[in-house]
Amino acid sequence: MTAGQMKLGAFLMAGGHHIAAWRHPDAVADAGVDIDHFIGLTRIAEAAKFDMIFIEDAAAIRERNVNIASQAARSTMFEPLSLLAALAVNTSHIGLVATASTTYNEPYGLARAFASIDHLSGGRAGWNLVTSASELEAENFVSSGLRPHAQRYERAEEFAQAATALWDSVDTGAYVANGSAFAEPSRLHPVNHQGMHFTVKGLLDSPRSPQGRPLMVQAGASDAGKNLAARTADVVFTAAQTIGEAQAYYADLKGRMPAFGRDPDDLKILPGVSPIVARTESEARAKYDALQELIPDEVGVALLASYLSLKDLAQYPLEGPLPEMPQTDGIQSRQQLIIDLGRRENLSIRQLARHFAGARGHWQLIGTPAQIADELEERFCGRAADGFNVMGAHFPGALEDFIALVIPELRRRGLFREEYEGRTLRENLGIKIPTRTA
Ligand SMILES: Cc1cc2nc3c(=O)[nH]c(=O)nc-3n(C[C@H](O)[C@H](O)[C@H](O)COP(=O)(O)O)c2cc1C
Repeated sequence: MTAGQMKLGAFLMAGGHHIAAWRHPDAVADAGVDIDHFIGLTRIAEAAKFDMIFIEDAAAIRERNVNIASQAARSTMFEPLSLLAALAVNTSHIGLVATASTTYNEPYGLARAFASIDHLSGGRAGWNLVTSASELEAENFVSSGLRPHAQRYERAEEFAQAATALWDSVDTGAYVANGSAFAEPSRLHPVNHQGMHFTVKGLLDSPRSPQGRPLMVQAGASDAGKNLAARTADVVFTAAQTIGEAQAYYADLKGRMPAFGRDPDDLKILPGVSPIVARTESEARAKYDALQELIPDEVGVALLASYLSLKDLAQYPLEGPLPEMPQTDGIQSRQQLIIDLGRRENLSIRQLARHFAGARGHWQLIGTPAQIADELEERFCGRAADGFNVMGAHFPGALEDFIALVIPELRRRGLFREEYEGRTLRENLGIKIPTRTA
């Protein structure tokens, strides 16, 4: 019986999600490009029966200012699909989800790459579809810079449609190789897509993958983003601070699905959470405080500024409130989340920057295993989440702590699996294999 159990992702990131994780005493120096580090983390998560690991991406370094980059350790990372291929052959059950952009790729290449990962992992691949809001990323591809939000989503809608058609273009078992024919022509469905942004003609060079199609993941928070997710996504990540915000997002997104002919249960919403856990509350608080002590102010402020899409936040007094600012073409929802948090808790720029440096606006929990399990259970049972994308503050320690302390507590409450239900990511998430669209 899995209906009453939460789904868990392990959101991996080089040394950890905390901006100062690289200064933690147990940090792996070259974590972003250390394959043993990533294989180790993925195997730890698999042994604990996590549904998936998740790899984020932007095809760019994350800091323009070299002095800040030298203090932030966000600038080295494997290209995500290459990393998934390596993880696939070193694991057997855990789902493997990587981020790729619809703004800087073409449907054929990306659909092909994810189909390959799904075949070589035995049905465990997932694509986190993003439209890429980063200006630094835009500068690597387009001379005119970041494209407007609406234009990015228009392209993303068409991209998803073309990729889906490609994944459906060759039926499972179409290649019979029975002596007289290699393929059965009736089971081949060449794509003929001619749209505003792409032309795609012909077949993908592999049959439908073990999951039918790779899992579709998204994190849209704008109106356009939520509509794309309601129409195409199997899993959605989100950032929410309060249970009220999380419930409103959950109800809004699932409420959009029937209009696209979809059952709300066919989409799992996993908000991010960064848990710092220890056997006592004061020990957990001390762990958090020790990490916070490692953040240089200028790095914290630069990270906050990048999510606000502001170039010059450092010119304002650190002890004062956030300045008024225009809506951005970047991540509008995260900008709003930061503004709301600053107002709600009356935080100065420095306080907000330090708060944000731990989990980039995601939900931060500090406490004992029972306290953390209580909070997760409340959101899971309160229709604010179908599970969580767990963001270890530093690796491997914070992931190991969560597994050693919180997972047994969740299991004791019947809230998390003891064993994988199946071999594919869709089976474990309880999401049906999609039927081919005609
Ligand atoms: C957990 C999580 C992970 C994300 N990972 C990425 C990423 O790797 N790359 C990226 O460009 N955007 C990433 N985003 C941003 C989303 O793709 C999206 O742009 C953002 O949530 C704002 O939604 P909107 O684009 O609909 O305004 C992530 C968002 C969340 C909540």
